Order: sequence, then structure tokens, then C-alpha cells
Amino acid sequence: MAQPVDRTVGVFQGAILQLLVSMCALLAAATPVTAQTKVELSVDLSRPGPKISRNLFGQFAEHLGHGIYGGVWVGPNSPIPNTRGIRNDVVVALKAIRVPNVRWPGGCFADDYHWRNGIGRDRNQTLNPNWGGVIEPNSFGTHEFMDFLDQIGADAYLSVNVGSGTPHEAADWLEYMTAAQPTTLAKERAANGHSAPYKIGYLGIGNESWDCGGNMTPDYYVSQLKIYSRFVRNYNPAQQGNDAMLKVAVGPGGGEPRFTEWTEAVMKAYQHHTWSWDIQGLSLHSYTVVRWPPSYSSVGFGEPEYAQILKSTLQMDELIAKHSAIMDTYDPKKNVALVVDEWGTWYAPLAGSNPAFLVQQNSLRDAMVAALNLNIFARHADRVRMANIAQMINVLQAMIMTDDEKIVVTPTYYVFKMYVPFHDATFVPVKFDAGTYSAGGVTLPRVDAIAAKDTSGALWLEMTNVDPNQAVEVEVALPGMTPKSAAGETLTAPKVDSVNSFEAPNTVVPKPIAAKVQGGKVVVTLAPKSVTVISMQ
Ligand code: AHR
Repeated sequence: MAQPVDRTVGVFQGAILQLLVSMCALLAAATPVTAQTKVELSVDLSRPGPKISRNLFGQFAEHLGHGIYGGVWVGPNSPIPNTRGIRNDVVVALKAIRVPNVRWPGGCFADDYHWRNGIGRDRNQTLNPNWGGVIEPNSFGTHEFMDFLDQIGADAYLSVNVGSGTPHEAADWLEYMTAAQPTTLAKERAANGHSAPYKIGYLGIGNESWDCGGNMTPDYYVSQLKIYSRFVRNYNPAQQGNDAMLKVAVGPGGGEPRFTEWTEAVMKAYQHHTWSWDIQGLSLHSYTVVRWPPSYSSVGFGEPEYAQILKSTLQMDELIAKHSAIMDTYDPKKNVALVVDEWGTWYAPLAGSNPAFLVQQNSLRDAMVAALNLNIFARHADRVRMANIAQMINVLQAMIMTDDEKIVVTPTYYVFKMYVPFHDATFVPVKFDAGTYSAGGVTLPRVDAIAAKDTSGALWLEMTNVDPNQAVEVEVALPGMTPKSAAGETLTAPKVDSVNSFEAPNTVVPKPIAAKVQGGKVVVTLAPKSVTVISMQ
């Protein structure tokens, strides 16, 4: 599993911490909402930055709990409305957030996955030893995954099995999926219903090979990487040029020396790579968990836990900076993207759920986590060009929760929706100082913000007011631009732990926000604990 940065709190320290947390909660409950702060924010249109790749808004869907079964796949005979077994309601919801790519089938599951079990008429029943030892029916396999992507309009990010598979098995899978010529495998694909070659945008070579993916040393992994990179080929004629499949190596899962050594080893190998192998990405996994095993509750928490989780999530910035610096040494031209293909909150299992299914609630706090991380990725957009939140449905920091025919979209979902204008937009620097906010023994910047120009030239500004007690009035200066109008949406809720449930699905939903244009500036008031996106013309 991905290892959190600070997971060594002992039992005694833990008890003291809990006591302090409870005392702070009492104090916080008594904190009144104070007068709003005024902040000047300046958007520097003269220094456009890199493109914020749409791939930063990618999803991760593993065969884990009800991530796939029940979440995406219900089967063609289900009373739940579906198209060839894939839930229609889920497809509609995902289309609205313009999912650019989906990473599949794992996670740890990927290094146990044997693709032949998931094709053809009579599927093998296997086991899912990583996630509760439940039966894996394999009814959702290659063709179902590609059909799902087709329905939502996303690209495939396939993780191949390096841990318990072979280069031969992975090479056959790619030939099966991508060969246009009538090879035996291509004919088998056609017999299974898809004569045209599939497009595979991204190939992950293993998953967490330093842990669940085989506990490999960096050198051993690098030797495997070269072999898989060389022999696992994409034969799709449409993907031989600019649209070539991009290969992503396993990267670090934290900032400790064993992970910086891992990045060094892979990037050093990359620096000396020959014509015979190559990579275009290095993955990074980092969960917001505070301590291991995950023990923060996803429901019924107070302001201290809210602040502590946000503080912990902000560590993503230094983690990216640390590994980017190593990558810069071996790849100064930034050819290799840092791909944050597992990120998000990881809380204690929801009471009554199977702990192996990683079920948790999703609250306004998760919305703030999503916004803060997306902003960090955007600020590192020159190196971070892809990211996948864990996980898309019913698992960890999900976009969507389902229970049989019921469905609800989460606060995190709405953040992804509000950020659609930032897909492939050009980063524009902003400058401001909104002071700090403190609670639960931690202090963090009160406001976070990014700006970007979309492909049609419109300017977008995202502002997250993390302070749950204080509104912030922002006066936006736009040197070189005379704004005529500004409008947008804001996401907030009565409490930091407000959630959308099947019974009350509209507790945390974006609402229109009024922004004034005054003296050549845009003035907008950010509610306490809110995520706001406005466009300015
Ligand atoms: O997302 C859950 C698990 O976390 C993934 O399977 C694994 O890659 C990571 O440790």
C-alpha cells in the first residue's frame, strides 16, 4: 500500500492526541463566524504558464469492493437501466465531468490480473486476494472496460501485470487489443465482438512494485521495466505517430529515502535509455491519511480533524517538488511526466461496511481536498501532466456512490465538474495574501487559488476558502484586462462534514455566485469553507 508520510504515532501519543483533538473540537464548536477578511488578488496575464492537461482530472477504477461490480457493471440482465451491462446513470454522471482517462484494473489487483479470464463467453471465476478474498466473476473484462470508456468518452490507462504475470502475457494482451492485421489474437478479439483495434492511450508497467506489486528492489524493477517497455507493443496503426501510447513506470509512494532512491533509479535508467525501450511517465502515489492504518472518520468529525486532513493533503506539494527535483536532474527537458495516478483521502472504513472494500463517506472536507490537490497539480503542470483520483465509484474518495439502484454524486464529484473549464487551459499566475487559518493544532493558508485561460480565451479563477469561520471578500485585479462581467458557482454546505446521501442528495451542491465588476476589478465574497470558480470576460 502507499505509505503515508507520518504514520508512526504510538498508542500513548495517539491517546494524548485524541484528547487534544477533542478539547480543540469543543473550542472550535464555540468559535463564532467572524467578520469577513478583505483580500487583494492579482492575476498576472503577462506570464502565461504551461497547459493544465485535461489528464490531471483522470479517474482510477479498481476491481475492489463495489468499484466495478455494482458501481459500473450490473450486467445486461439487471433491472437497473444499463447499456450492455453498464449503468446508464453512472455514464450520464461521468460524461458531465468529462473524464479524460480511466486507470484500470488496479491498483494491487492489476498485479494479480490475468486478462484471459476476462474475455470470451464462459469466464473463469477467480479470487480477489487483495480485497477481501471475494470471488472475482471476471464478467467485467477487456471488452466491457473498453465499452464503458466508449460510453463515457474517456481514454484507456491500462495497468499491466508485472508482479505475477509475464512479459509474454502482457504482450499478448496488447496484441489482442491493438493488432489490425489478422493475427490469431486479433481474430479472437473480432470473434469476441470487436474487429477494429482498440486505442490504448496509456500503459502502466506494474503497480506499487515496491510493495503489493512484488516488493521489488529498484534495480530489479528497472530490469523488468526495460523488458516490458520493449516487448509490450501497441500495434494500432492509428497510434504509431503523435497518438502513440505513453508508457508509465512505477514511481514512488512517499518522500522517504527508499522512495527517493526509487525515483533516482528509474530516472537514471531513463537518462541512459537506448532506442530499445522508453518511458513517458513516472507514477506517484500519495494518499491523504495522516496516520496508518487509516483512522480518521469520514463522518461526524469536527473542525480539528477537518484542518488536520487539509494540512496533510497540502503535503502533496512538497512531495511533488521533491520528486520533480530528482527528475529534473536526469530529465531537464521534462520529457517524462510525473503521473499522480493514485491520490485522495483514505479514512477508516465506514461502520458496517466490509473493511476490505474501502468504503468511506465523502463530505465538504473532501471537496476542499480535491480542490487543493487539483490546484497543486496545476501549479506543477509543467511536470505533472496526469493524475487519477482514487477511486471513481464506491471506493475511497469517490465521485459517485451507489447502492443497488440508488445513486448519489459526492461533493468531490462537484469539484471535478466545476473544474471542467480548466481542462487543457493555460495556467496564469496569481498573487495574494489571505493570511492563515488555524485549528486542531495546525495552521494553513486561509485561501488557495489558481487561474487559467481556456482554449476560447476566457479567463477562469478558482478560489478555495478553507476557513470555516470567516468569509473572505476578494478584490481581483487584472492588469492588462478590463473586465466587463464575472459569474460563477460556489460549493459550500452547512458543516465541514456535510455529505450528500441517497436520502438527501442536494446538501452539498454548487450554487450560482454573484461577482461584481467595480472600478475595473472583480469583487467576489467567498463563503466560509467553500470552493468557488468564476469566469471573467
Ligand atoms: O487504492 C487502493 C490501493 O492503494 C491500490 O490498490 C494500491 O495501488 C494502493 O496501495
